[in-house]
Amino acid sequence: MRYIEFGKTGRKVSVLGIGCMRMEGLSLNQVDDVIKAALDCGINFFDHADIYGDGECERLFGAALARDKSLRDKIFIQSKCSIRDGMYDFSKDYILASVDGILSRLGTDHLDSLLLHRPDALMEPEEVGEAFCTLHESGKVKAFGVSNFNRHQMELLQSGLSFPICVDQMQMSIAHTPMIDEGLNVNTMFDGAVVRSSGTLEYCRLHSIIVQTWSPLQKGFFEGVFLGDPSYEKLNIVLDMLAGEYGVGPDAIAYAWLLRYPARMQVITGTMNPLHIVSAAKAAQVYLSREQWYELYRAAGNELP
Ligand SMILES: NC(=O)c1ccc[n+]([C@@H]2O[C@H](COP(=O)([O-])OP(=O)(O)OC[C@H]3O[C@@H](n4cnc5c(N)ncnc54)[C@H](OP(=O)(O)O)[C@@H]3O)[C@@H](O)[C@H]2O)c1
Repeated sequence: MRYIEFGKTGRKVSVLGIGCMRMEGLSLNQVDDVIKAALDCGINFFDHADIYGDGECERLFGAALARDKSLRDKIFIQSKCSIRDGMYDFSKDYILASVDGILSRLGTDHLDSLLLHRPDALMEPEEVGEAFCTLHESGKVKAFGVSNFNRHQMELLQSGLSFPICVDQMQMSIAHTPMIDEGLNVNTMFDGAVVRSSGTLEYCRLHSIIVQTWSPLQKGFFEGVFLGDPSYEKLNIVLDMLAGEYGVGPDAIAYAWLLRYPARMQVITGTMNPLHIVSAAKAAQVYLSREQWYELYRAAGNELP
C-alpha cells in the first residue's frame, strides 16, 4: 500500500479508502469482513456521511468498532455533514449538532476528518470557521475538508477558516473526467472546454489538498460500473490488456489511472466485497506510464484537441 500525509495532522492515510455509503443492509459479520479485508491490505481509511443509509451506515460501523475496541486506533475515520431535507446547511448550529449525531452513531469521541458534503450557496465562511474552531478545541474533529467544491468556493471558505482545507472529495473516474477535460481543452470550442470545476485539480495541487475521488468505477451519476459494460467496449479492452501486463484486475488499472494524476490523490472505493477490496488495493503497486494514461483517457471516448 502507498500512503500520503493527511494535511498537517501528521497522520498518513492509504491512497485507497473504503467508502461506506453502500454498507446499509450488511450483517455485522459482513461489516467486520470489510474492515478486516481493508486492514489486511494496508487500507486504513474509511469514509462516511451522516446521510448514508440515513445514519444506518455509521451505526453499523460503530457496532463493529464496539465489537473490537482495538480497531479505532488503527483506522482513520472521515464523515460528512450539511445535506439536509431540500437544502445544504453550513450554519454553525447545524454543523455542531451533525457532528454530535455522527460521533454518537459511530460510538467514537472524535472524527479524524470532517467534510462539508456539498457547497451551501448561503455559506458564511466566518460562521463555518467558528464551528470548526469549536469542534477542534473540543477534540471532536482533528481535520477538515470539503466535497464537491470548486476552486473558488474553497478559496471563499478558506478565507474564514483558521484550519487548512485538507481534502476536496470529487466525483472522478476514467468515465467521468470533466476536471481533466477542461484542462486539456482550454480555449477551444470543443465540449471538453466547458468549465465545470474552474481549475479545481490545479488549485488542489498548489495547496497540497488531497483529491478524494468518489464513484471511481461508476459511469454517469450512479448509473452502474463501466467495468464489463458493452457501451465502454474500447475502454474495457485497454483496461483488460493493461491488467494482464501488470498482473492485476481491470479495477486496479481504473484506480491506478486516478492515482497517476500528480496531485495528492486518494481513491474512495464503494465496494463492500472483500475480494474486490483485495483487488482494488493492488492499484497501489501500479504506476502507469504517460502513454498508458493517455491511451486509457482516449479509450474512454475522449479526443485530444
Ligand atoms: N462526496 C460525495 O458527494 C459522494 C457521493 C457518492 C459517493 N461518495 C463516496 O464514495 C464512495 C464510493 O462511491 P461508489 O460506491 O459510488 O463508488 P464505486 O466504487 O465506483 O461503485 C461501487 C460499486 O461498484 C461495484 N464494484 C466495485 N468493485 C468492483 C469490481 N471489481 N467489479 C465489479 N463491480 C465492482 C460495487 O459492488 P461490490 O460491493 O459488489 O464490489 C458497488 O456496487 C461511497 O461509498 C462514498 O463514501 C461520496
